[in-house]
Amino acid sequence: MHFSLLVFACVLCGSTLALNNGLMRTPPMGWLAWERFRCDIDCQNDPKNCISENLFMDMADRLSEDGWRELGYVYINIDDCWSSMERDENGRLQPDPKRFPGGIHKLARYMHDRGLKLGIYGDMGTHTCGGYPGTTLDKIQIDAQTFADWEVDMFKFDGCYSNATEQEQGYPLMSKALNATGRPIGYSCSWPAYVGGLPPKVNYTQLGEICNLWRNYDDIQDSWDSVLNIIDWFFDNQDALQPAAGPGRWNDPDMLIIGDFGLSLDQSRSQMALWSIMAAPLFMSNDLRTISSGAQSILQNKIAIGINQDAMGMAGRRILKEKSGIEVFWRPLSNNASALVFFSRRTDMPYRYTSSLRQLNFTTGSYKIIDVFTGKMASLKDSTDFVVSVNPSGVVMWYVSAPARMNLNHLRRGQEAHRVAEENFIPYVFL
Ligand code: GLA
Repeated sequence: MHFSLLVFACVLCGSTLALNNGLMRTPPMGWLAWERFRCDIDCQNDPKNCISENLFMDMADRLSEDGWRELGYVYINIDDCWSSMERDENGRLQPDPKRFPGGIHKLARYMHDRGLKLGIYGDMGTHTCGGYPGTTLDKIQIDAQTFADWEVDMFKFDGCYSNATEQEQGYPLMSKALNATGRPIGYSCSWPAYVGGLPPKVNYTQLGEICNLWRNYDDIQDSWDSVLNIIDWFFDNQDALQPAAGPGRWNDPDMLIIGDFGLSLDQSRSQMALWSIMAAPLFMSNDLRTISSGAQSILQNKIAIGINQDAMGMAGRRILKEKSGIEVFWRPLSNNASALVFFSRRTDMPYRYTSSLRQLNFTTGSYKIIDVFTGKMASLKDSTDFVVSVNPSGVVMWYVSAPARMNLNHLRRGQEAHRVAEENFIPYVFL
């Protein structure tokens, strides 16, 4: 084939790999109301925590003033229970007037003025899961246009109160309708979660063409049990799920609950580490006004975020399940680097796990290691045994550089030395 034809063909085939709105080439990051604030609409008795414009503005202030935005946490996402029980006289969804007196458009402006983005929630069906007006097939176009008119940047389309046939029609239709508005709107589909999350019922190729991210599985709750259940489901089914993820198309194991009530600091590191291995969206659902410094520093860990946001966008896998209760996860990163997570399912005491990079299938060479949560750096040959001490329900997470070849002859030549250093480089963002 002629070279230019080949390039053209590849451009075409590439464009079918992901929803073609150019958004979310790395997993989206931000804040989402649901897990922490649910459907609290009692603004009279609980003004600080009820689903109202004040809550979203408070969180926007925190994202922009407490160092979150610069790290990539830019979405502020409204979930269920924002709307009025009735559509307006033109059949458009409208926010509850008491709780959102300024309206959604003004709230979007508030976000945009601060370099943030606004997300909103709807439901493919007669009602949202919380019982608010849903988006039936005949309402898809008008609702997409309403969100675009409000200058919303992301839309989560839930699936309560619809059947499989309606979902099959509705999710692709909404994708088209959002694109047709001309406004780039990231599209989160809950579709797979409503049909079991796995092929053959879920067609991940099709999903990647119509959605930017999708909920595959159950709702997260504020407990370690819930996090563990999600981890197990995703990695037990990694053969089906891992290849589905890529730039513009992400599996969504649901929100980060770090900073809430259910996780210890070790468990919080585990959630952060494994969500980064999965290339999962990082939507926190917590109270950023009162978050502890321990939780904040886990969520703001630059190395973990750098791994999550790796430009190649290839999700990782569980590569070992040891009898000892230690599990090892690996994610390939750009420039031949990778990330490793040693996770302990034990419930007794820190476990000293011995391995070598060679045993973990790394190629021959010398590697630079950064321990993600301590910041310690080391050099490690593939053949050298190492020991990591992993706390119960905790992790040790490593960034592993590309291998530098160990042939010293090469180092004599200046150019080669430079090349070897480059091969073994550590991205600036991690230092
Ligand atoms: C479903 C979704 C949750 C949340 C609620 C809102 O359960 O999976 O993420 O949006 O509905 O009612």
